[in-house]
Amino acid sequence: MCGIVGYTGGKSAISLVVAGLRRLEYRGYDSAGVALTDGQGAPLLVEKRAGKLANLEAALTSTFSQSTSGIGHTRWATHGGPTDSNAHPHLSGDGKLAVIHNGIIENYIELKEELLKKGHKFYSETDTESVAHLLSDAVADSGGDLATAMRNVCKKLKGSFTLLAVHSDNPEIIVGARRNSPLVVGVGDGENFLASDVSAFISSTKRALELGQDEVVVVTPNSILVVDLEGNVLTPKEYEITWDAAAAERGGFAHFMLKEIFEQPKAISDTLLGRIDETGVVRLPELDLLNLDVERILILACGTAYHAGLIGKYAIETWSQIACDVELASEFRYRRPVLSPKTLVITISQSGETMDTLMALRYAKSLGAKALSICNTHGSTIPRESDAVIYTHGGPEIAVASTKALLTQIIALHLFALHLSVKKLSPSDLEKIGNELLALPSKVEQVLETIEALREMTRGFKDATSVLFLGRHVGFPSALEGALKLKELAYMHAEGFAGGELKHGPIALIEEGTPVIAIMPPVGSEIREKMASNIQEVKARGARIILVADTSIDIASADHVIRVPETHELLQPIISIVPLQVFAYEMALLRGNDVDQPRNLAKSVTVE
Ligand code: F6R
Repeated sequence: MCGIVGYTGGKSAISLVVAGLRRLEYRGYDSAGVALTDGQGAPLLVEKRAGKLANLEAALTSTFSQSTSGIGHTRWATHGGPTDSNAHPHLSGDGKLAVIHNGIIENYIELKEELLKKGHKFYSETDTESVAHLLSDAVADSGGDLATAMRNVCKKLKGSFTLLAVHSDNPEIIVGARRNSPLVVGVGDGENFLASDVSAFISSTKRALELGQDEVVVVTPNSILVVDLEGNVLTPKEYEITWDAAAAERGGFAHFMLKEIFEQPKAISDTLLGRIDETGVVRLPELDLLNLDVERILILACGTAYHAGLIGKYAIETWSQIACDVELASEFRYRRPVLSPKTLVITISQSGETMDTLMALRYAKSLGAKALSICNTHGSTIPRESDAVIYTHGGPEIAVASTKALLTQIIALHLFALHLSVKKLSPSDLEKIGNELLALPSKVEQVLETIEALREMTRGFKDATSVLFLGRHVGFPSALEGALKLKELAYMHAEGFAGGELKHGPIALIEEGTPVIAIMPPVGSEIREKMASNIQEVKARGARIILVADTSIDIASADHVIRVPETHELLQPIISIVPLQVFAYEMALLRGNDVDQPRNLAKSVTVE
């Protein structure tokens, strides 16, 4: 939800800002803009364009390459459509101050009314433009001090924001602030960076500072000052970024999504590394921070991460015998939930910044719950505000559609479930599960080796108008995930159903030729026969069946069979979801869609 970059140092700011924006374009891509300072008192150099970053780049002239300090923004529209005038930066009336923003200023209408009364003119429909005018008034009130002005303005704002501002009178200074939206500092040598996430500056520095809630940061080429809204100086935590710039590049793949699909075996091994051995004994020292006297577990997450939760629930309840519920984070706090002190809330989030999940976490904590997060982004807000965190080690996920993050989230839930169950499972069961978990990377590799066959099969369904996904047990949330991927990438109607629910309504959707992708439980599963019956029911009504089945099953009724390796029933989604990801990817390509940046979406959803 909007990407933000700031650079101040000795190099050409425009190339570093634009390179940073390219890395952040996954956060929003309906318009982009920059504001560069050009020496003491000289007017700001500003350019902004509707559309993708390439439109902005085409509009930049050589004058931009002289400046060594500036800010840039790539937008996901909330208030005001994706036009040149609504693109960020927004300027003060005198044109000396520019501001960029990620988030929503909830009280912007009343702020705007006051500013209009004072004579300010507005040129956009955004909530952000009010901040530019407020800041310029506050700069005047504080004798030209942009940092003090930022602190004073933040006190007046309601909602969520990351803000960066520059002023032409102080060309080397960039001031940033954050509340409920992400902002990290990249610590360089004679140069410093501000960005929504570290991928924006990973090519220049691996040192980063975490910023907390309601903190203001002032960077120059040689200094970084962090203060709270009262002006008290704070000491931010520094950390080293553990992945390199290559991880944030496409590396020869046509799309980030394809690269990330192929990175899944490694992402799974990295997430398992050092945390489990062949005897199934789990080491998660992160959990020592929690008092795990738990009577109930409640998982809160959104979208694909929610599906990870739905899948993890089966292992948690089966192995630990502790009740586990899974709920959409966006719904949770509005239904006045009841949490006992022995409820452990687990939030799952790739970005660690999803606003719905963050707000649900805060609400759960306010009710006294202990909170564990499963997260892929070091130092992001959700793990910072949790009592403990299990980091997934998926590396940066750039494609908007989540793939490797999901599989590593499921792995983290399996590890957590085993940790809870060590006294409840027999040593032989633990060993069996441990070995199956450790075998997953190579089994996912085997699925990926069939990509040509999957590609060929997908072509046969190019003209379908609707695709249904069917599953039971852990296959049901896998079906939901298959449908979500197809919707978001191929823009097709797709729905996931529990096999047993078909007869309660959805079977009416089946007509001659309707593609149904069915996930078959393994041999020995108590629902295998029932699933086979559900497949027959749709087949009898004319559906074209694509079956995801392991090699132990001999199926005659399917039009296509996607063979996947055998594994433990509770681990099966790790394997069976992979062909569904590839199906959605290939279908999106066949339909000429932008796979990495699907329409209307953005990766990190920092608005409610
Ligand atoms: C779908 C997808 C989204 C995210 C959801 C939560 O492919 O990526 O549904 O899973 O927006 O995001 P995080 O995990 O960052 O909280």
